[in-house]
Amino acid sequence: MSFIIAIDGPAASGKGTLARRLAAHYGLPHLDTGLLYRATARALLDEGLPLDDVDAAVEAARGLSLTDFDETRLRARDMGEAASVVAAMPAVRAALVDMQRAFAARPEGAVLDGRDIGTVICPAARVKIFVTASPETRAQRRALELAGRGEEVDYNAILDDVRKRDARDSERSAAPLKAAADAVTLDSSELDRDQVFAVALEIAERARNA
Ligand code: CDP
Ligand code: CDP
Repeated sequence: MSFIIAIDGPAASGKGTLARRLAAHYGLPHLDTGLLYRATARALLDEGLPLDDVDAAVEAARGLSLTDFDETRLRARDMGEAASVVAAMPAVRAALVDMQRAFAARPEGAVLDGRDIGTVICPAARVKIFVTASPETRAQRRALELAGRGEEVDYNAILDDVRKRDARDSERSAAPLKAAADAVTLDSSELDRDQVFAVALEIAERARNA
């Protein structure tokens, strides 16, 4: 049976970092599904279209190719917010489902991270981890990350972003951010990257040997 690991959680909880490490450990391909929503929003902005143009957003989502993302551009601070606007549209989410499931269907398995992997995209995943941390911890992490990339950082503006995005992602009706009933919640507020990885590895090994 293929080994699918689903990692979900709010903005800057560390899910991408954890997903990459688990993928490297198990030699599995990794998909950061947030990039799909970021790239969809980016395509609209590049064409000068409003983010609430559903038809254009669906077309942009359908036209995405998993291999040619400009990650640095997509991870700019304002793109998280823009992504969450297009991600609230059910038609956009529907346009991205097959692409994600096809990625997860590789014979060896895959690691996917996002908001709805354990609930909607891969409900039968062998491992489901919901990574959380306090908004303050997450804002601090994101501030450090952006500063490291040379972006100007304003901690309070980032904390505002995190809170706004938590609310939008949790309150939308289409695939809201929430832990799957069978997910293990991992609060990383007091844990560094290595500790998060160690806990997650225990969870994954238990599921793999079950
Ligand atoms: O890295 P960060 O958590 O800040 O953001 P991301 O994972 O790149 O996701 C950006 C936005 O895309 C989120 O705020 C969600 O609104 C949306 N998203 C989603 O709805 N479903 C996913 N599976 C992944 C991302
Ligand atoms: O993917 P997501 O937005 O959930 O978060 P990330 O991009 O994996 O992590 C956001 C930042 O927090 C990165 O710079 C990570 O290196 C850092 N991080 C951390 O400091 N401590 C952790 N336990 C996990 C992540």
